[in-house]
Amino acid sequence: MNRTNTSESDDGVEQRTDGSGTTVSEQTTSADDESTSLLDESFDIDDRSPTGAANTIIEARDVNVFYDDVQALQDVAMAIPEKQVTALIGPSGCGKSTFLRSINRMNDLIDAARVEGELLFDGKNVYDDDVDPVALRRKIGMVFQTPNPFPKSIRDNVAFGLEVQDTDVDVDETVHSALERAALLEEVEDQLDSSGLDLSGGQQQRLCIARAIAPDPDVLLMDEPASALDPIATSKIEDLIEELAEEYTVVIVTHNMQQAARISDKTAVFLTGGELVEFDDTDTIFENPEHDRVEDYITGKFG
Ligand SMILES: Nc1ncnc2c1ncn2[C@@H]1O[C@H](COP(=O)(O)OP(=O)(O)O)[C@@H](O)[C@H]1O
Ligand SMILES: [Mg+2]
Repeated sequence: MNRTNTSESDDGVEQRTDGSGTTVSEQTTSADDESTSLLDESFDIDDRSPTGAANTIIEARDVNVFYDDVQALQDVAMAIPEKQVTALIGPSGCGKSTFLRSINRMNDLIDAARVEGELLFDGKNVYDDDVDPVALRRKIGMVFQTPNPFPKSIRDNVAFGLEVQDTDVDVDETVHSALERAALLEEVEDQLDSSGLDLSGGQQQRLCIARAIAPDPDVLLMDEPASALDPIATSKIEDLIEELAEEYTVVIVTHNMQQAARISDKTAVFLTGGELVEFDDTDTIFENPEHDRVEDYITGKFG
């Protein structure tokens, strides 16, 4: 596995987040005893827009995030459409990972972090008291920059986040289907009992994607999921992301502007200071952005 282009600050954060991700999944298992329905009955995303226009699945309203006294996001407002790919781009340190982690409350795991404002998931503020963050993270899964399979078999990696008390779930069947949807099944079908760590970097990342989709989420958050991969593995992940968007809402952070242009429907440009400067159709952002600062960033004048 090649690690390329990761800035030091990104690295520090990602590593910490990876560790937290593991903790979250462990909590998932221990929380399984008390059956966790995420929220009340009104929380149902099966009402699709009859017009075919994309529904908003996630909406940020005046989101401000601080690490102790340092503000990392400023008044971010954004409506993310369902079943599309939304890319978050911008220079290092502008708050992309912070925003992503706000969506499924991964920032809860960072002591210094404080989130203000509202983050709605299908109309419900995920910061409301009655939201169980562990259940929320099954609905809004996350994939990190560095593939982080557990030192377990491929099968157990994928099955890890499932609610084991749910007897309706056929684990083998779910594992198979998740591997298939993550475009990995063909490569590992005969070795489900071997360690996830024996796979190549690109396969490990698809394994992590399979693990995230096994609990049948609505949203997949991906934080630079291909930046540690070689070009061939990257291109496989990009193809996969486009396929996944038929079934899931994908929100992806990338420092690679070509990647954002290739795979996303919508693009959000964050700039230094944690400001969301522009959010629009990807074509508009790359061909005819409204703000000069965005044009300067896109054309490589800074960042
Ligand atoms: N765990 C953390 N503790 C303290 N500060 C952090 C932490 N994570 C990020 N930051 C700070 O918040 C700002 C935004 O960081 P981040 O969201 O990682 O940006 P990006 O993903 O766009 O590179 C940066 O100034 C960064 O140093
Ligand atoms: Mg980041």
